[in-house]
Amino acid sequence: MKISLSAIKGTKDILPAEARLWQKAEALCREVFEAYGYREIRTPIIEPTELFVKGTGETTDIVTKEMYTFVDKGGRSITLRPEYTPSVVRAIIEHRLYLQPSLLRFYYFGPMFRHDRPQKGRYRQFHQVDIEVFGEADPALDAEILEMADYLLARLGIEDKEILINSVGCPVCRPGYLNFLRQEAEKLKDSLCPDCQRRIELNPLRLFDCKEPSCHETTQALPKITDHLCPDCQAHFEGLRRWLNFYGLSYRVEPRLVRGLDYYTRTTFEIISPGLGAQNALLGGGRYDHLMKLYGGPDICGIGFAMGLERVLSVAKITPDEEKSIYLAYLGERAKERALQLCRQLRQQGFSTFLEYKERSLKDQLSRANKLQVTWTVILGEDELVQGIGQLKEMGSGLQKAFPLEQIPSVLKILKTGEKKLAEINP
Ligand code: HAM
Repeated sequence: MKISLSAIKGTKDILPAEARLWQKAEALCREVFEAYGYREIRTPIIEPTELFVKGTGETTDIVTKEMYTFVDKGGRSITLRPEYTPSVVRAIIEHRLYLQPSLLRFYYFGPMFRHDRPQKGRYRQFHQVDIEVFGEADPALDAEILEMADYLLARLGIEDKEILINSVGCPVCRPGYLNFLRQEAEKLKDSLCPDCQRRIELNPLRLFDCKEPSCHETTQALPKITDHLCPDCQAHFEGLRRWLNFYGLSYRVEPRLVRGLDYYTRTTFEIISPGLGAQNALLGGGRYDHLMKLYGGPDICGIGFAMGLERVLSVAKITPDEEKSIYLAYLGERAKERALQLCRQLRQQGFSTFLEYKERSLKDQLSRANKLQVTWTVILGEDELVQGIGQLKEMGSGLQKAFPLEQIPSVLKILKTGEKKLAEINP
């Protein structure tokens, strides 16, 4: 049987040149998160299915339609995580991290899996960068998180962006609003899609997430949650806006921004890049003040966001760090041995060093070095070896100089710092 040699629909390979950009973006994220007091946490890709059913929400699109779920050999229902927030909350409860004196600020990078219809900016395996903070209810934190996200996107060279915020209320004000929303939605039932007709009863907030354009149009007329917040939620939302103004961040209140997950309370937000088309959310998140308790943990509030790396990289303006590498060219068996020794020494000193085993002419080797775009080539010929020297060639300038072999690593070290050029160094 012929096997398929294409990556599964909705997944993609990240080849070395592109992986360089991923590394750069991930390094920038790390740098920013660490500066804001976040520390990395890593959790498994597979989790018990009920973690997402209970946390992400039984009636959400993710749980009802998009999860990669299977029964393992022990008969347990396992899911490839569609999002990361439930896993981090589980890990905190399991390891009682809330009892430790360290800050409850975490970040994470990793693949997520959703069986959605693939399209530009939407994959079945995609990568999120996620941050979560626990134990702080002050809206100043919500604003700080958006300030950090905005700064991070600026560091990634993304100018075309807009912050959208909303409040989805709390268990005090939401039930009353939901009843009212149901009543109003019933009146429009006939113009809604079958999914939305079911949502009216099951989870009317999800009416605002519907991807059908006609439903999007119809639901514009429905009451907005921001007009039905209790005084505490109202004060929290006002606080958020005050602190966003304090940071000088511009934003738009978007009352339809209920987000497709059930755990949110109060603040929800997204940063979109309008030029990206239909899938324009670079990141999304919000508060989830009752999720930890819902899972049987302590009553500790939480807030966070996840950023889609594929989408961010499609608009980021970053260049990979300049690579400085060495090609070792040699002629003859003895020179090969000396080249291998030198290669090992240079690699252990952190130089990216290439050498090939196949016997080739010097011309061929230099042409390979050019194609590989190395910074320097070291040439070890048989005659040079007798004299204990090697030729060091700066590929950019074409300048070539002979140095005693044992001096070559230290010369390369100086050249790598960029403090001196080859023309300024003498044996
Ligand atoms: P989410 O809005 O489902 O939130 O996903 C967050 C981000 O992941 C999106 O804004 C988008 O950039 C990216 N994303 C989502 N689905 C796909 C896909 N199929 N293909 C490519 N990128 C995608 C969450 O996942 C929440 N856990 C965020 C959160 C953290 N809330 C609180 N803490």
